[in-house]
Amino acid sequence: MSKIPKNTILSKQRLAKATYEFWIDNALVAENAKPGQFVIIRTSEKGERIPITIADTQENAFRIVVKAVGKSTIELCMKNAGEQLYDIVGPLGKPSEIDCYGDVLIIGGGVGIAAILPIAKALKNAGNKVRVILGAKTSTELILQDEFSFADKLVICTDDGSEGIKGTVVDGMMEEFNLENPNVIWSVGPAPMMKATSMIAAQYGIPIWVSLNAIMVDGTGMCGGCRVLIRKEENGVTKEEIKYVCVDGPEFDGRYVDWESFIRRLQQYKEEEQKALERFLEEVGDISWL
Ligand SMILES: Cc1cc2nc3c(=O)[nH]c(=O)nc-3n(C[C@H](O)[C@H](O)[C@H](O)COP(=O)(O)OP(=O)(O)OC[C@H]3O[C@@H](n4cnc5c(N)ncnc54)[C@H](O)[C@@H]3O)c2cc1C
Ligand code: FES
Repeated sequence: MSKIPKNTILSKQRLAKATYEFWIDNALVAENAKPGQFVIIRTSEKGERIPITIADTQENAFRIVVKAVGKSTIELCMKNAGEQLYDIVGPLGKPSEIDCYGDVLIIGGGVGIAAILPIAKALKNAGNKVRVILGAKTSTELILQDEFSFADKLVICTDDGSEGIKGTVVDGMMEEFNLENPNVIWSVGPAPMMKATSMIAAQYGIPIWVSLNAIMVDGTGMCGGCRVLIRKEENGVTKEEIKYVCVDGPEFDGRYVDWESFIRRLQQYKEEEQKALERFLEEVGDISWL
C-alpha cells in the first residue's frame, strides 16, 4: 500500500468566498495538538511562514480554515487536494486554559469561528455551560455554524441582518450580559472585534481570552516580530511587559493588551504586502473565483 507523503492536502472545501477548509496529513501535529494552538505553514521553499490555527484533528490529519487576505494565504488557498505543502511546524503556542469555570461565553468572528470551535468543544466537555456568539458581515460569510450544535445557546449576528441579530457580536454580547454575566469569555476574530469585546469585558471585570493574530516571522520567540505590550494595574502600580505571541500566547487576557500598538503593528507592512500581492496577481491572473 502506498503511503501518503507527510503534509499532503487530503481534502479541500470552500466554506465561503475566499475561505477554505483543508484537512492535511501530519501525524505529529494531529497527535499533539491541543485547543488554542497553531501551526506555521510554508507552501514552497521560498514561501512566507503562515501561522494558522489548528481547527480540529482526526487520526493522522489536522484541519485548518484559511481566509485569503494577501499573497501567502491566496497561494495556500490555491492549493488542491493531493498537493503537498513544503513544510509545517507545530503544534505551536500555549494551549487554551480549559477548566470548569461555570458559565462561559464564546465569541467568534469571521475566520476566528474556526479557531474557537475546538476551544468551545473542550470547554463543554469540561462541564461548562457554553453560550456561543458567531458573527459575520452577511449570512453567506458565516462558517461552521452547524458544528456548534453542542452549545447550550447559539446566537448569530450579521452586520446586514441577513441572519440572526442585525449588528455585530458586540450587540449579541450585550444581550447575553443582560440575561446573565458569564464567568469567563473567549473572543477570537479580527483585531477590532477582539478589542471591542475586551473593552466591555474590562468594564464588567470579566476575564476575556483573545487569540492575537500578530504578524510572525520565525515563530520561536527569537525575532521579536510578534511582540505585544501587556499593561496591568497591580496595587495602584502600572506594570508593563513585552510578550511574544508565538511562545507566550497566542491567547492573552484582552483587558490588558495594548490594542493601539498591536493594531498599529498589524498595519506596518501594508505597503510591502500590497506590492507583493500586485506582483503575485500579475503572475497568476484573475483570482475572483477564490
Ligand atoms: C496564531 C495565529 C493564528 C492564525 N490563524 C489563522 C487561521 O486559522 N485562519 C486564517 O485565515 N488566518 C489566521 N491567521 C492570520 C494569517 O496568518 C494571516 O492572515 C496571514 O499570515 C497573512 O499573510 P498574507 O501574506 O496572506 O497577507 P499579507 O500580505 O501579509 O497581508 C494582507 C492583509 O492582511 C492583513 N494581515 C497581515 N497579517 C495578518 C494577521 N496575522 N492577521 C490579520 N490580518 C493580517 C494585512 O494588514 C493586510 O491588510 C493567524 C495568525 C496568527 C498569528
Ligand atoms: S514570530 Fe518571532 S518572536 Fe514570535
